[in-house]
Amino acid sequence: MLPVAGLGTRFLPATKATAKEMLPVVDKPLIQYAIEEARAAGIEQFCMVTGRGKTALVEHFDIAFELEHTLRERNRTEALATLEATSVEPGSLVTVRQQVPHGLGHAIWCARAFVGDDPFAIILPDDLVLADKPCLAQLADAYLETGGNVVAVTEVPREHTNRYGILKVGKTEGRLVEVTGLVEKPAPENAPSNLSIIGRYVLLPEVITELARMERGAGNEVQLTDGMARLIGKQPFHGLLYEGRRFDCGDKIGFLEAQIAYALKRPDLAPAVQSFLKTYVR
Ligand code: UTP
Repeated sequence: MLPVAGLGTRFLPATKATAKEMLPVVDKPLIQYAIEEARAAGIEQFCMVTGRGKTALVEHFDIAFELEHTLRERNRTEALATLEATSVEPGSLVTVRQQVPHGLGHAIWCARAFVGDDPFAIILPDDLVLADKPCLAQLADAYLETGGNVVAVTEVPREHTNRYGILKVGKTEGRLVEVTGLVEKPAPENAPSNLSIIGRYVLLPEVITELARMERGAGNEVQLTDGMARLIGKQPFHGLLYEGRRFDCGDKIGFLEAQIAYALKRPDLAPAVQSFLKTYVR
């Protein structure tokens, strides 16, 4: 599931008429990275939770008939290949609408018919993870091992705990940590650890029942973290210290850093990027 109904206020004015998830890192929009990562984890059915002004996100995965026709006529095979990578199997992408952005938990609840009785994965497209093995595939393995809820976690500076969902931690086994509590955006002095949830989850369907209570949490929003917290003790719940580097692209600095990191991974761009970067370092 891909919740994309947020307002993206930190990226105004860019997000006034464009979805945040259409912003490109190098030459690919965030939403495409998310779909590719989900596919790499074996996922074949996608649900976007959208809002007003987000239709481009769905268009992006449709066939662009006229464009493809013109490119074919002009023999632009490389450009054509990049387009082909963006269309999805017929019927594999559905959307539901979150009419009012009441929070991430509310967005997930809006997709309850899609979830049904099965475990499901969530990717927040504004979190990018650069990794040898895609982050969601790492979570899927952890889910197969534990049979319960698994969230991707990373250490954050203590002074930033008030930006994230933070774990209270039990036993640790390698990269898997048992979750004994979850708090959304705690002040540093109240944070039970400095382990933060990032935008990758594999959850059991019971979380939907908890979200249906519509209890408001931090920022007066229906928080996914609060819904998940109610599952602790009833179902296995783990954090996975994933391997890879995460970029918070919902934030300007994280977004800018992602441009550099992803460009430097591209053989066609890396030499030029490295050379211009030198001119900025004093
Ligand atoms: P953010 O906290 O980044 O909020 O949401 P935002 O609205 O996207 O951006 P800012 O903070 O105003 O700049 C995290 C994820 O949850 C989704 C967002 O689309 C994003 O993927 N979300 C958030 C919803 O789908 N609905 C909501 O009501 C809130």
